[in-house]
Amino acid sequence: MKKQRILVIGAGGQLGSELTQGLWNLYGKENVMATDVKDAEGVLATGNFEILDVLQQDQLFNLVRKNQITQVYHLAAILSATGEKNPKFAWHLNMDGLINVLDAAVEYKIEKVYWPSSIAAFGPTTPKIKTPQHTVMDPTTIYGISKQAGERWCEWYFKNHGVDVRSLRYPGLIGYKTKPGGGTTDYAVDIFFKALSDKKFECFLKPDTYLPMMYMDDAVKATLDLMEAPAEKIKIRSSYNVAGMSFCPAEIAAEIKKHIPEFEITYHPDFRQAIADSWPKSINDSEARIDWGWEPQFDLTRMTKEILENLPQLLQTI
Ligand code: SER
Repeated sequence: MKKQRILVIGAGGQLGSELTQGLWNLYGKENVMATDVKDAEGVLATGNFEILDVLQQDQLFNLVRKNQITQVYHLAAILSATGEKNPKFAWHLNMDGLINVLDAAVEYKIEKVYWPSSIAAFGPTTPKIKTPQHTVMDPTTIYGISKQAGERWCEWYFKNHGVDVRSLRYPGLIGYKTKPGGGTTDYAVDIFFKALSDKKFECFLKPDTYLPMMYMDDAVKATLDLMEAPAEKIKIRSSYNVAGMSFCPAEIAAEIKKHIPEFEITYHPDFRQAIADSWPKSINDSEARIDWGWEPQFDLTRMTKEILENLPQLLQTI
């Protein structure tokens, strides 16, 4: 088998930092080049790292050529809430960054490309419960519009240029190793930090706002399972629905209270409520299960226990 050389773009982000470590385990640290617009922090700095602005096509192309890259994980993007504050830049980064990567894949015959889509590609008239793979998609945020358009671009490059591009529509991703990054689902990350530091949390969504969510370990597993699957098993070249769990702020607060009885949550919905209300409440991921064997491992109870057991230790080291 040809030696694999992996490029991760946006490696400093919430998903990127954990996925990079998953790739180290799979391919060896020396074969993974992590990049970001910002300098590496923490564990990321112990591996190969370079500064890369994916919008600079020549920088990207040079890096791919020099390192003989065979796979790209392109994760750099502006998330939903931040994107609404700077829509033109969110569109520029999310779209032109992806197209630069797809062009590099054609130019340098990159073997596989990974790019994440999101539940944000759905919209208010999408069926909200067990949202099917193929359905109405009318995203209302610039982030969601860029994800929907990105899905179309991926499928187009697959059909017209044979690029082996693969994608998942992530639910809200919950991890504790990096701080939240401007998403609407990120209340469910922040809540753990505040539960430990202040024993209270003010939530920007209403108590009964159900959203599809996934623990970071499951997200890394889903991504690597998809990328390791034989090409003939990948039937969907836009982006696969994947589900982990589904909960609302009142439910995660109750789960945290089981570990921290004095924890209190209050509610003060802001502009992010409308974003959350436009998204599905739960996802039907049967295609991912059938095509490449997807199966999540974490529910709300297991995730909460794992985070509250490990986060205090991590907070002591930073
Ligand atoms: N987690 C993202 C957000 O809230 C959705 O993909 O923006």
